[in-house]
Amino acid sequence: KTVKVCVPGTTANCGPGFDAVGIACTIYNELELTLNRSDKLNIEILGEGRGIIPSDEQNIVWQAVQAVLARTGKSYRGAHIKMTNNVPLARGLGSSAAAIVAGLVAANAAVGGPLSKQQLFELATEFEGHPDNVAPAIFGGITLSAVYQEKAHCLRFLPPGVLEMVVAIPAFNLSTKAARQVLPETVAYQDAVFNISRTALLIGALSQGAFGHLQCALEDRLHQPYREALIPGMRDVFQAANKQGAYGSAISGAGPCLIAFTQQNAAPIGEAMVAAFKANNIDATYVILHIDQ
Ligand code: HSE
Repeated sequence: KTVKVCVPGTTANCGPGFDAVGIACTIYNELELTLNRSDKLNIEILGEGRGIIPSDEQNIVWQAVQAVLARTGKSYRGAHIKMTNNVPLARGLGSSAAAIVAGLVAANAAVGGPLSKQQLFELATEFEGHPDNVAPAIFGGITLSAVYQEKAHCLRFLPPGVLEMVVAIPAFNLSTKAARQVLPETVAYQDAVFNISRTALLIGALSQGAFGHLQCALEDRLHQPYREALIPGMRDVFQAANKQGAYGSAISGAGPCLIAFTQQNAAPIGEAMVAAFKANNIDATYVILHIDQ
């Protein structure tokens, strides 16, 4: 029996909410999984990552499938996996979380659905190392997550009103690992306080639809200042989006995509962001996304 799942790409952090806040976006990866009793692993990759993503035992979808099989006491060494990817790879839109979650959800369905969403979320968090991309990939909407006593917790909500996300996608990859390596070991007390106030305002603004607060609420001192050097033109792209009327902008996940939040003018905002990247000698495209529910 073939199981088909569709998993959204995600934008994590949303400015100050480092490793905690995430949003599921209307861009999707599809996965078809057929487990079989052979010992042949056949992995087909279409779209984003074709020719780059490993198609052997190293494949992260297959590793996620194996984690579910191990947890549920099943054993299959053969499978046909077909990935049809729309989420760009290593750009800050949660491609690895989408792959992990797709593998976990599909394998769970293939063996009769013994694991709950919460259990899949905990497994996915172990895989990814932080919960902020896997949470929205599993639960949809806007998610707030934390790891407490080695267990991942998540709260999900949807904002009142339609929020559009304009994502400028520069033509270069940035691995999460590289983008985490530039972060400091410790931060100043006042920077931590700065981020707590912004994150609190961010969650209030999103949950109440008080989007006018986003300009302030998207400010960050924990990761963006350090990652700026890895994303040429970052400040110019933010300014360009704001000039076209965006509520505010942030790095999407670990970057290099930059995301602006708005309720109007999405296409001009996207064009201005791309032009600002180009003025910094970086080719880019943009997409307009909504919150996946
Ligand atoms: N919170 C993570 C980071 C998201 O910013 O490093 C990227 O996977």
